[in-house]
Amino acid sequence: MTAEETLSRLAGEISACAKCGLHETRKKSVPGDGPANAEIMFIGEGPGFHENEQGHPFVGASGKFLDQLLAQAGLTRTEVFICNVVKCRPPGNRDPLPDEISACDAHLEEQIKIINPSIIVTLGRISMGKFIPGVKITAVHGQMRKVDERFVIPMFHPAAALHQAALKPSILADFGRLPDQLNEARVALGKPAIVIRKKEELVQENPQQLSLF
Ligand code: URA
Repeated sequence: MTAEETLSRLAGEISACAKCGLHETRKKSVPGDGPANAEIMFIGEGPGFHENEQGHPFVGASGKFLDQLLAQAGLTRTEVFICNVVKCRPPGNRDPLPDEISACDAHLEEQIKIINPSIIVTLGRISMGKFIPGVKITAVHGQMRKVDERFVIPMFHPAAALHQAALKPSILADFGRLPDQLNEARVALGKPAIVIRKKEELVQENPQQLSLF
């Protein structure tokens, strides 16, 4: 089985998963989107209203902002993997409960193992807590650190930055550092560094991204 096939087999298992109570209220599970060979994996908290309707991560307002942040880093959705700590919507968009997070953890761990990203970007404190427990996001956001065999960068959740305007410059600056951090991670992991695309080149490749700037 190729990595892509293993990922889609896992997505099928997730859609039938009943390991926690969230399956009772979900419309669609949201396993995650992106290629199996993505070098960067973004992990949010859990699906919201629109994600539950569509079965894809970050398709609502915070998803639009995430697209803008990815563009800030010279990235597009087609080259990164985006998923959440829990794959089914917590009712009313509440925070996922500890037992829901631990019930879903095997799915997330399997995704990480299949994709084997150089960098995991955690979006928000819940996702950060899995990799870097006991720290405050305000103190560590944007800072890359080695966790086991890869690098983790905790970032503010895009929704937090949408609701608190004061966070927006920080999150934009953090994403702007991502290309250099990716090269740093690649070199540290013994992989060749890559050419970093500029925003202008990205717009040439994907003219629809022009609207993001
Ligand atoms: N917020 C998240 O954490 N994940 C999503 O998929 C959407 C909004």
